[in-house]
Amino acid sequence: MTVAEPTAQSVAEAARLLRDGQLVAFPTETVYGLGGDATNERAVAAIFEAKGRPQFNPLISHVLDADEARKFVRWNDTAGKLAARFWPGPLTLVLPRSPGSPIALLATAGLDTVAIRAPSHPVAQALIRAAGRPIAAPSANRSGAISPTRAEHVAESLGDRVPLILDGGPCLVGVESTVLDLTSAMPTLLRPGGATREAIEAVVGPIAVSDALPSGSSARKSPGQLESHYAPARPVRLGASTVGADEGLLAFGPTVAPGAMLTYNLSPSGDLGEAAANLFAMMRTLDRPGIGRIAVMPIPETGLGLAINDRLRRAAADDGKDRGR
Ligand code: TXA
Ligand code: MG
Repeated sequence: MTVAEPTAQSVAEAARLLRDGQLVAFPTETVYGLGGDATNERAVAAIFEAKGRPQFNPLISHVLDADEARKFVRWNDTAGKLAARFWPGPLTLVLPRSPGSPIALLATAGLDTVAIRAPSHPVAQALIRAAGRPIAAPSANRSGAISPTRAEHVAESLGDRVPLILDGGPCLVGVESTVLDLTSAMPTLLRPGGATREAIEAVVGPIAVSDALPSGSSARKSPGQLESHYAPARPVRLGASTVGADEGLLAFGPTVAPGAMLTYNLSPSGDLGEAAANLFAMMRTLDRPGIGRIAVMPIPETGLGLAINDRLRRAAADDGKDRGR
C-alpha cells in the first residue's frame, strides 16, 4: 500500500488503477472514499471485499457534475434545483437508474435506483476527470469501523487491501453526505449528513424523513444506514453530564464535565461545524485500551447536530456483536 501526495502524476496513476479495476482511496470533503470503477462489477465487488462488509449495501456513484449524472440516472426538475444549489458538495441524490445505465448492479445492490453525488474536493474531482468514469465509493474503512477523515485512518483500517491512498489532508465536513431519495412524490431524507435538512427545504420545500431513521424496522430504503459503521469497540454513553474515572469523554462546548480519564472536546466554542469535523477522529482516539467506556456530552439537535447525534446514537445502540475494531 502506497500513500501519495496528490500530484498530476499520482492522480494519473490512481486513474490508471481505477480503469484497471483496482481500488484507490481518495479524499472527499465529507470522508475518505474507497473508490472503484462504478461501471465495473468486479471492481465494485472488490470494494465490498476490502471493506469486509457482511451485506451488499448500495454505494454512491461519484461524478463531476449534473451533466454527467444525467448519463446514469433519470434526472428531474427537483434534482436540477438541488444540484444547482448543493453540487459540488455533500448531498447525494437517489434517482431511478436510466435505461441502459452502465452503473454496475452490484453498486446499487440490485436496486433500480442509483445514489449519485458530485464531490467538491479538488482531488476527488481530478480523479474522476482522469479516470473518465463514475467512481463508486463507500467510506474507506473496514465494515463496522469509524469513517476515516484522514489518510492515516484509511491506512490503519484497510492496510494492504488498498494499493494506493491519495492523501488530501483532513476532511473539512467530517460527516458523510446527506442522502435524499427523489424517487417518491416527496423528497425523503434517508441519511442526515453534511447538507442540512433546513438548507434542502429552503430549495424544495418540506421534505419527508424516512421512518427507518435512525433505527426503525420498517421498509428500509437505505439499508446501509442501519449498519454499525460508526461504532467504536468500547461502549458509548450519551447525554453525559458527569463522568466516571474509567471513562473517556467526548466533550462539547465551553463547560466540560470534570474527572474523565481522557477528554477531547469536539468544539470548545460550541460550533457544530467544528464538532462534525472532529467527530470521527476524536471517537477513534478515545477508543483505546485503558478506557472502559466513552461518555459523550449532549449535542444540540439542530443543523449539523442532527447528523452528529445520528452517528452517536448508532455508536451507543451497537451491542458489540458487529464491532469491527
Ligand atoms: O460522504 C459520503 O457519502 C461518502 C463519501 C466517500 O462520498 N460515502 C459514503 O458511502 O458514505 P456509503 O456507501 O458508506 O453510504 C452510502 C449510503 C448508504 O446509507 C446507502 O444505503 C445509501 O447511501 N444508498 C446508496 N444507494 C442507495 C439507493 N439506491 N437507495 C437508497 N439508499 C442508497
Ligand atoms: Mg461507511
